[in-house]
Amino acid sequence: MLLLRESLAIFRRNPLITTTVIFLIAAASMGQVFSLGALYPILQVVASDEASNTPSSNGAVFVQLLSKIGAAPTLTNFLLLFVVLGIGYSILNWFADTFQGIHLRNFESSIRQELLETAVYADWLYLKGLKHGEFINVITQEATQYRHVVKYALITFGSFLQFAVLLIYALYLNWKLTVLGIFIFGAGSLVLIPILSTTAQLGHYATQLANNMANRLIAALRSYKTAKALSLELYLVRSLQPSFREVASNYFHQGVLISGQYAIMEIIAFVAISTMLFAGLNVLGVPKADLFIVLVLLFRALPQARNGIDNYHRGFGSIASVQAVRRHLGAAQIARERQGGLPVPEGWRRIEFRNVSFAYPADEPIIKDFSTRIHRGEFWAIVGPSGSGKTTLLDILLGLLVPQEGQVSVDGAGLEGVDLPSWHSQFFYLGQEAFAFAGTLRENLMWGSSRHLTDTDLVSALRAAKLDHVLDKDVGENGCNLSGGEKQRLALARLFLRQANILVLDEPTTGLDAVTEKEIFESIATFFKGRTLIMVTHREELTLGADHIIRFTEEGFRIEARTSASPVRAE
Ligand SMILES: Nc1ncnc2c1ncn2[C@@H]1O[C@H](COP(=O)(O)OP(=O)(O)OP(=O)(O)O)[C@@H](O)[C@H]1O
Ligand SMILES: [Mg+2]
Repeated sequence: MLLLRESLAIFRRNPLITTTVIFLIAAASMGQVFSLGALYPILQVVASDEASNTPSSNGAVFVQLLSKIGAAPTLTNFLLLFVVLGIGYSILNWFADTFQGIHLRNFESSIRQELLETAVYADWLYLKGLKHGEFINVITQEATQYRHVVKYALITFGSFLQFAVLLIYALYLNWKLTVLGIFIFGAGSLVLIPILSTTAQLGHYATQLANNMANRLIAALRSYKTAKALSLELYLVRSLQPSFREVASNYFHQGVLISGQYAIMEIIAFVAISTMLFAGLNVLGVPKADLFIVLVLLFRALPQARNGIDNYHRGFGSIASVQAVRRHLGAAQIARERQGGLPVPEGWRRIEFRNVSFAYPADEPIIKDFSTRIHRGEFWAIVGPSGSGKTTLLDILLGLLVPQEGQVSVDGAGLEGVDLPSWHSQFFYLGQEAFAFAGTLRENLMWGSSRHLTDTDLVSALRAAKLDHVLDKDVGENGCNLSGGEKQRLALARLFLRQANILVLDEPTTGLDAVTEKEIFESIATFFKGRTLIMVTHREELTLGADHIIRFTEEGFRIEARTSASPVRAE
């Protein structure tokens, strides 16, 4: 049922293509029966001793077919017709498979895209809490499994359809013999039910194990520098070994169940065929041609049923992957960031925090009753101990976190009702963790810029950030070819390429030496003179030029105003 429901959900995603796939599968099934039916007149000729007693006209259609093309109903012509129909059926089947492959390819990439899109368009709290390993596992492994489930569902459908069509033909030829076969087959298949449910459980568990392994792997990779520095490599490897073993054992157990199910199906087929032969000849007195063709049909139908059950089994075992993908999609959709609202005018004058309180879910408030006004062009420094809420305050200002009480407004318009992209387009933001992509410095500098940037622009941005490298330097995955401070300077260099009227910097220079820090800060002050600067810092020296300081303390916060001219912001 679960597989059926998921298949219907997939059908609704793309009804036209799915209908075509199903139609092709059905056509291939009919083609198979028709081509096998061509055996009937051959068998009648072969078993000619009984042919005369056979009242059936089942082979008549093939006789007519031959006469239409002017061929006589001889054994050779029937054999040739059989081969031609067989080739036709195989080509149709191949075409159906290829079309299905195209459909599955598109399906897999669209699932990945949807997973990524819903995640990045979800609100910040959702993204902040997203487990990276699990997300990587879902978008790589589970999305592939999802495609497999679709494939298994289609194969299951195709196999059962072929099984049904072959069976109907067999029933038409000799219903008693066929019913006997179905009965033996059906009774034997009951043994498979507990195997199916155990496989489903193992499949569900496999997803959890894979997520767990991926989360641990990410954590281990993040800690590898410390592990190397302290020669704790063995500890790092050992911390992952149990999850490697668990994942492998889970696959092994699933494999054992699948091959066990094959073996049971083989046994059932042997019992069914010998019983039918015996009963057909000795009890029911079925004519030989009918007996042979029914046996051929059943021989052909039983593997289809086996294939159907096997694929149902596989699909069922991977249903947990579909659920994992859908759970991620669902949660991200629920957390979807608010869209639309009034645009924030470029010429805004004042940002106001009015009695703002914010708490992370199931936590004590971290910002309590915070009120202040930031005027355009001012420099605000935010200082305070680690964990006191500085980054949280910036996130509220950006509209990424919505306070439970109070309001942040821009020229009187509450942030909760404005169009966030129009607000964010006015910012330059530098978070606490500088990032870099695999690629050249040039590519990294151009990241996220819609403006046309010349090499001259890029080089002067590098200079302003005191980064002395050529634009073609390959920075490596996650900036691994750069030092920590260089990565930070690369992030700062982007600042000089963005036309922003508010700069929000969260400890932008912690990794830099005092001289470089001062030089870069002076560049920022000069370059962005007259723009609004809001900066979190642990360095008191950098607050000297601030117009106001928000100081987080044990008791709460305090706002200090400076009246003297700032040495850094001075001309
Ligand atoms: N998603 C979250 N869920 C629950 N608590 C959180 C979450 N994110 C942060 N916190 C908590 O909120 C508090 C404030 O965090 P925040 O990042 O604002 O601190 P900070 O002042 O910027 O610290 P630092 O100087 O170390 O960067 C911390 O105690 C932190 O543990
Ligand atoms: Mg912080």
